[in-house]
Amino acid sequence: MPSYLITGASRGLGFEFLRQLSADPTNLVIGLVRNKAATEEKVAHELKRDNIRIVQGELTDYDSLKNAVEAVEKITPSLDHLIANAAVVSTWSAWDGLGTLAAKDPAGLTADLLSSLNTNLIGNINLITLFLPLIQRSAIKKVIAITTGMADLDFIAHYNIAIGAPYSISKAALNAAIAKFSAEYRKDGILFLGLSPGLVDTSEGKAEMTEEQKAGVASMVAQFATYAPAWKGPITPEESVGLLRGVIERAHVDRGYAGAFLNERLPIAYNNQLDPSPITYRTSIQTLTNPAPKARGSAARDLPAPDCPPTAPQAQEPPSAGHPAACGSTQRCPSTPHTE
Ligand SMILES: NC(=O)c1ccc[n+]([C@@H]2O[C@H](COP(=O)([O-])OP(=O)(O)OC[C@H]3O[C@@H](n4cnc5c(N)ncnc54)[C@H](OP(=O)(O)O)[C@@H]3O)[C@@H](O)[C@H]2O)c1
Repeated sequence: MPSYLITGASRGLGFEFLRQLSADPTNLVIGLVRNKAATEEKVAHELKRDNIRIVQGELTDYDSLKNAVEAVEKITPSLDHLIANAAVVSTWSAWDGLGTLAAKDPAGLTADLLSSLNTNLIGNINLITLFLPLIQRSAIKKVIAITTGMADLDFIAHYNIAIGAPYSISKAALNAAIAKFSAEYRKDGILFLGLSPGLVDTSEGKAEMTEEQKAGVASMVAQFATYAPAWKGPITPEESVGLLRGVIERAHVDRGYAGAFLNERLPIAYNNQLDPSPITYRTSIQTLTNPAPKARGSAARDLPAPDCPPTAPQAQEPPSAGHPAACGSTQRCPSTPHTE
């Protein structure tokens, strides 16, 4: 019975992971949440499945995470997949750059940076180290961090994305932590992988946005549309999680995924027909420049396959710059060091 632990399972992408994974009765799906009773009620009301368990855990509280490990150990002696999905997304710093925020409120900026790092970086590092013994006992051994395209350094630099800096910085640091974990535990066969879910509408159940937030979203969406006119707006949690599950299933520690940050499906901007600049090192880029329409939600079939050796997919175009020719993929291996 494959087992999954998903953090932030109370809502948004986390709840969608819970929903999709538990649809297979052979899976054991554990949600880690802050409010156990509320999520249990939601699960009972909306999903009514007996392969779901909910445990309490607060990422910023080490003892709470230790207790969560004990609770999970009572459910299963080993853990196949840890999906570190929970995150704090600061609204305070969402729509201004670092310079503007510092000029407005330097103490506020420091507090916002610390809060973002405390949850998104340190909380996840503690989560992973505490659950490692359970992961070690599994035969599958996959640790997945849900990160963001906002932490993609090429994206930020190339398109001048100044907003959301503390959040982006905390996720970029998380990407580095994932690479470091991989460097340490790859020898044990543990896959550590960071995945971006794309821009996803998880607004359901959240408070109405302020006018300032609405203006910020409108301006960001307009910016994306300028770079990628074909972009249709945010995708649904169902679609995003379907795509992510496909990658998680395919990803293997020995096939170029170890320690990588895959900015899959960030549905914007990377269109080298519009912009010939060589942003080539992310695996997703070629998929977004492929004019052939993609089947939506068909995760495993639809995703880039950086199966650098042993099983390279059929090449449709010549390998891009920086992609090992031996691989045969049109995409660059995530393990390939980037020099751009
Ligand atoms: N939505 C997007 O467009 C998008 C884009 C890029 C990346 N992402 C990433 O995808 C993931 C999920 O995003 P989402 O849109 O589903 O987020 P969301 O709707 O805001 O949900 C966040 C989840 O994280 C939990 N959480 C927050 N702080 C926590 C803490 N200190 N301890 C434990 N749990 C905590 C929340 O629990 P409570 O219910 O208790 O608050 C909630 O379950 C995040 O990592 C986010 O950075 C999302």
